[in-house]
Amino acid sequence: MSIDFPHELDEDFDYFASDPPDLIERLHRHRETRPAAWVRGWGEPALLFTSFELVDAAFRDEETFPSAAFYGTTVTDVLGRNIQCMEGDEHRRNRALVSPYFRAKNVAEVVPPLLEPVAHELIDRFASAGETDLVASFTKLYPIKIILRMLGLPLESEDDVARWAMGMMDIQHNFEFAQRCSKDFRAFVTPVLERRRVAPEDDLLSQLATVEIEGERLSNDEIMNFLLLLFPAGADTTFLGLGTLLFALLTHPDQLELVRGSLDEECRWAAEEALRWVPPVSMLPRRNPKEVVWRDIPIPAGANLIFSTLAGNRDPAAYEDPDRFDVQRRPRASLTFGRGPHFCLGAHLARAEMEVALRVLIERLPSLRLAEDADARIEAGIVPVFRGPNRLPVRFDA
Ligand code: HEM
Repeated sequence: MSIDFPHELDEDFDYFASDPPDLIERLHRHRETRPAAWVRGWGEPALLFTSFELVDAAFRDEETFPSAAFYGTTVTDVLGRNIQCMEGDEHRRNRALVSPYFRAKNVAEVVPPLLEPVAHELIDRFASAGETDLVASFTKLYPIKIILRMLGLPLESEDDVARWAMGMMDIQHNFEFAQRCSKDFRAFVTPVLERRRVAPEDDLLSQLATVEIEGERLSNDEIMNFLLLLFPAGADTTFLGLGTLLFALLTHPDQLELVRGSLDEECRWAAEEALRWVPPVSMLPRRNPKEVVWRDIPIPAGANLIFSTLAGNRDPAAYEDPDRFDVQRRPRASLTFGRGPHFCLGAHLARAEMEVALRVLIERLPSLRLAEDADARIEAGIVPVFRGPNRLPVRFDA
């Protein structure tokens, strides 16, 4: 059997090259007519999955669509070989080694005391100004600072490390700078890691340095590759999710009022709904390693795939009136954090970060509103894989 690429695409549009203003309508149209449609991604033909059911099943079918087939060939020069590039037993073992800190119980017990102080520190910097761009002054910095504090890196070097972390995340635009940042980061962290191996403390770096499963420990390189993954996986995503949450509430005052009425209960649900409404990783790239007929769809070897969590989360078969932002929805688990063996390791952490940030922002800045000339909107991030507001100019009574 030899499966060829189709002679004609269903839509000759490159979903990774630009961000059409009618993206949601396009995704709805594909789902209605052909939930697995041939489009383009990075110039090449790509099979786009848009129904909840197909995206869910494709994520779970790691045997047919291993995440390694894509990540293993794209990000390793800067980020090293991390768990996204592994499959099978190797992935299971390595994921088990880095998981304990991220489990629900640990996130509920150990993490909360780290979150609130970071939110307050960032707000302190602009609270008397009466205006700010919440993306530049809050959402972009908050998740990076939290990762650094979880790791237990010295606080006085936080700004340097945050700069390297942001540089590494700019891999698509400035590859050489990203590589330099990754080198500087490694040089800085290695001696701290060596110290933690000898004298562990109560932080994530010490856990990674000492954890042992099935008689195995992580090498310095393995730890470093995991740390390098934490910044793009944990910060580039959460900052967009938090931005979307704030944008959604500031543009839906009735929903903001509902949240304000019961902060302790509703912040969590508002975060969940924002994550469903616009997932920070909206269009996940994958590659099909071997030709296959999957659910009656012939897919050639080497084909690019796009798992659209955004389209799946807006599927009317899964959510009633799916385009509506509704904090009282209490939705079924969305596709936002993926599915299957590579399900987001940081999902509990991301939810906790968003919930706490929202509560502290509402408490500290009760009159928070979008600036009249804000020009804020949800759009593609650094690449159209990602989605969220790139700016959030706001005003408040100082
Ligand atoms: C709202 C924020 C976040 C979103 C939307 C998100 C989304 C995702 C998605 C969709 C995947 C699966 C990728 C795939 O299958 O190709 C993933 C994997 C992953 N995420 Fe997250 N993530 C978020 C926050 C975090 C945080 C805070 C961390 C940790 C600090 C984190 C760490 C990871 C790791 C390590 C993986 C790889 C897991 C594996 O390959 O086994 N993420 N994330």
